[in-house]
Amino acid sequence: MALKIVVGAQWGDEGKGRIVDWFAAQAEVVARYNGGDNAGHSVTVGAKLFKLHLIPSGIVHPAPIAILGNGMVINPESLFSEMESLEKVGVKVGPQRLRISHAAHLITPVHKALDKAMEIARGKDSIGTTGRGIGPAYTDKAARTNLRVADMIAPDFIEKLSAHIMAGNRSLAALDAPQLEIEPILAIFAAYAERILPFVADTAAEMDAALKAEKTVLAEGAQGTLLDIDHGTYPFVTSSSTLAPAALLGLGLGLNAARGAVVSGVCKSFQTRVGSGPFPTEIEDDLALRLRGTGENPWDEYGTTTGRPRRVGWLDGVLLRYAARLNGFTELVITKLDILSGLPYIKVCTAYTKDGKTYTDLPFGPTDLEGYEAVYEQLPGWTEDVSAIRRWDDLPQAARDYLDAVAKIAGVPVRLVSVGPEREQIVEAK
Ligand code: IMP
Repeated sequence: MALKIVVGAQWGDEGKGRIVDWFAAQAEVVARYNGGDNAGHSVTVGAKLFKLHLIPSGIVHPAPIAILGNGMVINPESLFSEMESLEKVGVKVGPQRLRISHAAHLITPVHKALDKAMEIARGKDSIGTTGRGIGPAYTDKAARTNLRVADMIAPDFIEKLSAHIMAGNRSLAALDAPQLEIEPILAIFAAYAERILPFVADTAAEMDAALKAEKTVLAEGAQGTLLDIDHGTYPFVTSSSTLAPAALLGLGLGLNAARGAVVSGVCKSFQTRVGSGPFPTEIEDDLALRLRGTGENPWDEYGTTTGRPRRVGWLDGVLLRYAARLNGFTELVITKLDILSGLPYIKVCTAYTKDGKTYTDLPFGPTDLEGYEAVYEQLPGWTEDVSAIRRWDDLPQAARDYLDAVAKIAGVPVRLVSVGPEREQIVEAK
């Protein structure tokens, strides 16, 4: 058994795509288990920048089979457009390589329209969703009314889709949102149904067979721990389970698949967040501009899916420890260390205070972060550019001290550090 699960330790955007790309060099199967095209994973290989939303980032390597698991919500329009973009840059995505669970749920234009209309209706309390229809699709899944990939290849698909759009139009009317025209959607989805057929598989059985054959399987989490529907900063979360244990359910694996699994927690060397919700270590001064970047580079802190500027702040050690506990991290991967170079000092939040009391753990998880103030440990910065460094011992002492401090706070050893966006800009810990 060789299951490795890569999970974001923060609010998403930790740089999981490039880390999955690093691990995928050894993988035989790469799989997504949650979410949909709300994710934005970037992989830079030489002059090529691959932006993936639905398909596992590991597909960029020629060998692994890519799986879209049953825990996902799939918008066929995004799926085919992503497949076409990948094919254009030479990545093969035929049915031999890409397998889509028959039990994954669909995202339709109804879900996208409802996502938008519901955000407008929430007004100042909006969640700041990506607008991809994720919430409404998972809502329909839980209500047991949604369409699944298997429905697309059944003879009554068009009838079911038509009923789904009519129901959606009733919900849209209740929100004073424009109605959707039914016929054009039916025509487009009839064509999608024909295209998707060769890719549909019982991916749970394929995953099981791969693990039994001792293949190396990489499960790629989307979003991050703090966006998890149960354990994140509810209600400012996504609608799926993002945590490592969800990889089992979202891929249809039994508990024994977890025996000996490696769980890699990917954590940016500072904190970022897109969308609304509490953020105790947020900073808004010149330093914030420095950490965010100008947006000229693809790795600057602007959403891959929406282009929105991300909120930035110091690394939150309290939330990192929480993430380590919930996911069962066996190793940490720290990304974007190069961005900290040149800062006179670096702060890490080690506790919170509220009403005169100090908390190193939150009494009720991160749902109620309002009113908690961050307590920081301040560490010295370093001036050296670390982007060309490939050996742990060559990192500046202050950088190694910072990484050691993060590992100690999390209670998990650091395994890898990224020092730039390129595939090779990785330092392995000793
Ligand atoms: P939704 O997943 O589109 O419903 O958005 C819910 C919340 O999760 C919003 O705050 C989004 O900005 C955030 N979110 C969703 N996907 C990602 C992601 O891949 N990276 C970072 N934030 C995300």
